[in-house]
Amino acid sequence: MVFLTDHLNIMANMMRVCLILLWIRILVQPHILQLKAVQVFPPINFTLTVTALAQVLLSWKPSPNQEQRNYTIRYDVKILTPVFEEYDTAKTYSFQTAVLHNGFSARVRTLLFHKGLQMTSDWVTAELQPPPGAENTAVTDLSCVTHFTVSSAVSLHCTWLPGKEAPEDTKYFLFYRYETYTEECQDYIKDKWNRNTECRFSVTHIAPGEIDELIVIHINGSSKYAAIKPFQQLFNQNAIEKVNIPRNVTVFLEQNDLVATWEKPLSTFPKGCFEYEFYLINLKSGNEQVSRTYSHDFRLRIDVTCRYSIQIRANHHKCAVNGFWSDWSETLYIATVL
Ligand SMILES: *[C@@H]1O[C@H](CO)[C@@H](O)[C@H](O)[C@H]1NC(C)=O
Ligand SMILES: *[C@@H]1O[C@H](CO)[C@@H](O)[C@H](O)[C@H]1NC(C)=O
Ligand SMILES: *[C@@H]1O[C@H](CO)[C@@H](O)[C@H](O)[C@H]1NC(C)=O
Ligand SMILES: *[C@@H]1O[C@H](CO)[C@@H](O)[C@H](O)[C@H]1NC(C)=O
Repeated sequence: MVFLTDHLNIMANMMRVCLILLWIRILVQPHILQLKAVQVFPPINFTLTVTALAQVLLSWKPSPNQEQRNYTIRYDVKILTPVFEEYDTAKTYSFQTAVLHNGFSARVRTLLFHKGLQMTSDWVTAELQPPPGAENTAVTDLSCVTHFTVSSAVSLHCTWLPGKEAPEDTKYFLFYRYETYTEECQDYIKDKWNRNTECRFSVTHIAPGEIDELIVIHINGSSKYAAIKPFQQLFNQNAIEKVNIPRNVTVFLEQNDLVATWEKPLSTFPKGCFEYEFYLINLKSGNEQVSRTYSHDFRLRIDVTCRYSIQIRANHHKCAVNGFWSDWSETLYIATVL
């Protein structure tokens, strides 16, 4: 009897499973068929517009043939050059920051979602040609440094080398862009052929203390003999900041210990953001010692019969990418008067 009941139960369960499978077919199949019948059209009028130095606006329109119905439409965007990047968006435009001196290319396609299913259209592609200019006339070896000044402004200093094939009469022009602000250099320093190879901005619109914002540098030029190729580079503002020197460095002896204390450099970053390097020379033996610390003091057992020199420098470290180490503080000496 027990055996028979079990048997019937198994049969009933199998029937149930079959019914459920049938239901799933009925429920799912029509949607697949329905979605297969939906055509997904690529966006139209995909255009690239340069809106600022090293900035492109990608914009497109939904295909007028695309059924709107109850589908979710998004767009898949692929930046192909100069730096590959892929993302999707519900908008029909997107701003990109990229160096444009070698051109720019991107593609976009329509994504259609319906009840958990996704379909894609073909891609449409657009590109910007590199700006004209003769080979090897663009500047090379560009390097830039910013500095937080006592007047709470950020200064900017850039140097570069003229392109190998740049004629002697080449005149270079440097521009920086920070967010929406663009400015041309007014203070150039020239090489012996009178070509601009250095530029200084004592005050800029760069906001001190921002994290990972980009500084765009654009250098183009002109010559009677050749078209000069422009050059662009993006700098993380924190990575090119030359940090200020630690302040109020004091050194004294406490029994047989050398004790140094100091204050954080002039900066919008709080105290906890800095790392310090401590450079100690035993002037009798010539032994040198470099130590790193996050604290604002330093204690070391020394040989009190010797004279020591001490210097400290700083870098921001914990709150942003490393900048350039500050200069060393003025040399301080310590010796026991015996
Ligand atoms: C697409 O571009 C064409 C030609 O420039 C223009 O006539 C048309 O109005 C544009 N379509 C849309 C939807 O903007
Ligand atoms: C869209 O969805 C709404 C509510 O879910 C429904 O009433 C309407 O009929 C649907 N429209 C189309 C065109 O499928
Ligand atoms: C250099 O670039 C600036 C900014 O885009 C532009 O206004 C200027 O006309 C360019 N000069 C030359 C010589 O190409
Ligand atoms: C450095 O010391 C001076 C004089 O004691 C003081 O006025 C100043 O606030 C100190 N600076 C810092 C950054 O602590």
